Formats: sequence, structure tokens, C-alpha cells
Amino acid sequence: MKSNIKPAAGKLGILIPGLGAVATTLIAGVEAVKKGISKPFGSLTQMGSIRLGKRTENRYPKIKDFVPLADLNDLVFGGWDVYADNVYEAASSAKVLEPGLLFSVKEGLEKIVPMKAAFDKNYAKNLDGTHVKTGTRRELADQVTEDILNFQAQNDCDRIVLVWCGSTEIYYEASEIHQSLAAFEAALDADDKRISPSMIYAYAALKLGFPFANGAPNLTVDIPALVELSKLTDTPIAGKDFKTGQTLMKTILAPGLAARALGIKGWFSTNILGNRDGLVLDDPDNFKTKEISKLGVLEDILRPEDNPDLYGEIFHKIRINYYPPHGDNKESWDNIDIFGWLGYPMQIKINFLCRDSILAAPIALDLALFIDLAKRSEMSGIQEWLSFYLKSPQTLPGLRPENDIFKQLMKLQNTLRHLMGEDLITHLGLDYYQDLVEAL
Ligand SMILES: NC(=O)c1ccc[n+]([C@@H]2O[C@H](COP(=O)([O-])OP(=O)(O)OC[C@H]3O[C@@H](n4cnc5c(N)ncnc54)[C@H](O)[C@@H]3O)[C@@H](O)[C@H]2O)c1
Repeated sequence: MKSNIKPAAGKLGILIPGLGAVATTLIAGVEAVKKGISKPFGSLTQMGSIRLGKRTENRYPKIKDFVPLADLNDLVFGGWDVYADNVYEAASSAKVLEPGLLFSVKEGLEKIVPMKAAFDKNYAKNLDGTHVKTGTRRELADQVTEDILNFQAQNDCDRIVLVWCGSTEIYYEASEIHQSLAAFEAALDADDKRISPSMIYAYAALKLGFPFANGAPNLTVDIPALVELSKLTDTPIAGKDFKTGQTLMKTILAPGLAARALGIKGWFSTNILGNRDGLVLDDPDNFKTKEISKLGVLEDILRPEDNPDLYGEIFHKIRINYYPPHGDNKESWDNIDIFGWLGYPMQIKINFLCRDSILAAPIALDLALFIDLAKRSEMSGIQEWLSFYLKSPQTLPGLRPENDIFKQLMKLQNTLRHLMGEDLITHLGLDYYQDLVEAL
């Protein structure tokens, strides 16, 4: 496999629809890391390591030294938003990072001015930005294509990836226009409003052969038409919904409880947050998209139908409330009713005082770098090995998603080993003890 990977030479353009809290925290963070002001904590590509070979070999390189990833100094950021604020202004209003830190990277951030958005207010009613393109769905797709190509030329980028950090769109399901590329393109021509704005960006990127990762819970590339296009243009896609606060905790804890055959009767999860994401999610149609994305994880991990005694009665409830005083500092509470030996009940309470965008920014960075690696490694279509980062991982139709974070990590690491021609690790380890016996 190793010889097929093209080097990460030249600049990588990371284009982001939605220059809000997550995107600006990512861009400011990369600038701060480049200047040596801070470190990229939370990013597996930058700080994580990977075991290679047998434990006796003691090989644990940093992931970035093992696989050829774009260097942070070679990244160029750009994007679109329905508000015209540059990235410095947008980051200042998002209030995730403190003013002193932002000021130290002001020069780099001010230069990044959003392009006009392909937007339809019906998909996010609580937004009132006017920095938007006009035209039919087809015209919007053409304009986004032009934006991407202009950005690439102006910034001398060797490669481009798109990461959707735009607001969560209202809940919609795939309809007949989303089932094939032909139907999708006919719908673009007919200006069919069932094509969501995020799909317009994804279509433009994939048509050009540029990877697309979706950080929000809306379907976007998770429709047959765009999967078909990604295969046609040999382009990787990944989605959906960054796995950050409460769901991260859920996919860490639930596999552990299931591993010990502890039963679960109920899992109540509630959140308060006060950023623009919270405002958009305050609309019931937008909340529904998020709710569906968050609900699936427990069922996939616990498989109640195969384990009815342990999980057959589980009651899973999720609430998100908009609470401006908390800003981006989301607070979540989980109450978990579990039972053990002979059915005796116990409770677990989690109160996570997290910072939404601080958790999401490194995920957006890793997704951009890994999906670029996938493209250079001639991988196309759904990149299930990136499920590790996502709340509602896209899979082939009929394939149950894997939400257990430890299995997701193993899949990610084995994919990297496979790409680099290293042995996959099964953690069997019996041979160590066999050799030991023979040596005695
Ligand atoms: N922060 C997290 O922990 C987290 C976790 C999982 C998913 N997400 C998702 O990531 C996305 C970004 O989150 P955020 O906190 O940065 O939200 P945000 O509201 O701060 O930023 C989103 C930005 O997208 C812009 N936008 C909306 N529609 C657009 C369009 N069609 N084209 C271009 N720009 C558009 C908005 O104007 C806004 O500036 C949301 O969908 C959120 O649900 C965030």
C-alpha cells in the first residue's frame, strides 16, 4: 500500500462552509500552534502516537511521523458564511478564545474573509445573515465551484478539502431526488428546494474531486447521489456530526458497561448551551436533526434486540436547551440507571462542563488531514475509519455503524497500519507466551 500514497507536497487548502465558533477556533488554534504559543491538545494527528509491531519491539511513533500528513505550516484556510465578518471578528464574537490569544494571531485571521454563502433560510430559520449568493440551486453550485477554483489558484494550493462547519440544517430525509446522481443533477437544474445548501457545497467539491467531511448532523453527503459522485470522481467523503461532548462520554462509557454485562434501564441526557449553534438548535426542526444523530449511538453499542435482558427496556432521552449566559461553554448532565448482579439498581451521574468548540476544533483538523491522506492514498467513497470522530457515522446502506469509540480507534489505527504496510494488530498476544515457554 505504502508506495501508492502520494506525498503531502505543496499547500493544502481547507475550505469551510460556516466560519462560526468551531471553524474560527480551529483556524486561530492552528495559527497559535504555528507561532509556538500553544499546543494542539486533543488532536490525534498532532499529538497521538501509534503502536507498531509486537509489544517487545517498543515502537510507538507519533502518528504525524508515521503517515505522510500535511504539515500545519502548509495549511491555508478559507470559507463561506452568511455573515460578512472576517475570521478575527467572528472568533471575537464567538467568545471561545480569550482576547489576548486572539490578538496574538489577529493578522492571520483578519485576512480570511468569508465568501458569500449558498444559503436558504428555510434550512436555518434563526439565522438572519445577508452575505449570501443569489440564483437557482444550479447557479449556486456553479458559483461555489468557481469560488473553490479561484481560492485554489489565488493561494497556490496543491490540494483542497472541504469541512462543513455550518449550522445544523432542519431535519429532512432523503427523497427520490437524492437517490441517484442523475436525479440529483436534474433536481439542481429544476431548482428543487429539497437540495439543501450543504449538499450544494458537497456537490461542487466532489465534482472537482475534492474530499468533503461533514461536521453537522444533516445528511449532506449521506445520500446515494453524492456517494455515487464520490465514487465516480475517486473522492473520499466522511460524515456526520463531530463527536465532542456528551456523545463522546456516552461512547466511552456505554461500551465499558456493556463489556461487564451491566444492565441499563435508562439514560437521560440534558444540555444547556448559549452559542449560535444553540440558537439554531432552539428551533424544533433543527433540534430534531441533532436528536436523531445523538440517539442512535446507544442502540448501536448495546444492541438491545440481541441483549433483551440487559438493554431491552432502556429509556433514552436527550434534551438541548438554549441558555445564552453559558455561551460556548456547554454544560451537560447525564443520569444513568444501571443494574448489576441479581438486578440490584445503581446510578451514575455525569456533569460535564465542557467547551464545545475546544473539543470540536481538533476533530475538524484531524478530519481535514486524514481525508486528504485518504485522497492521496486513492481511497474513495465513505471513509468509515473516520467514524472515530463522528456521532452518527456514515456507513454503506444496511451496515450497522460502529459507535464504540475503542473499536473505532482500532479501526482507524489499523487503517493507518494497512496504508503504511505495517502488520495489523489483533491484541491476541498468545505468541509471546508460546515463545516464552519454548525459551524455558
Ligand atoms: N461545537 C461542537 O462541539 C459541535 C459538535 C458537533 C457538531 N457541531 C456542529 O458543527 C456546526 C458548527 O458549530 P458552531 O458551534 O461553529 O456553530 P456556529 O453557529 O458558531 O457556526 C456556524 C456558522 O455557519 C454559518 N452558516 C449557516 N448556514 C450556512 C451556509 N449555508 N453556508 C455558509 N455558512 C453557513 C452560520 O452563519 C454560522 O456562522 C453546527 O452544525 C454544529 O451543530 C458542533
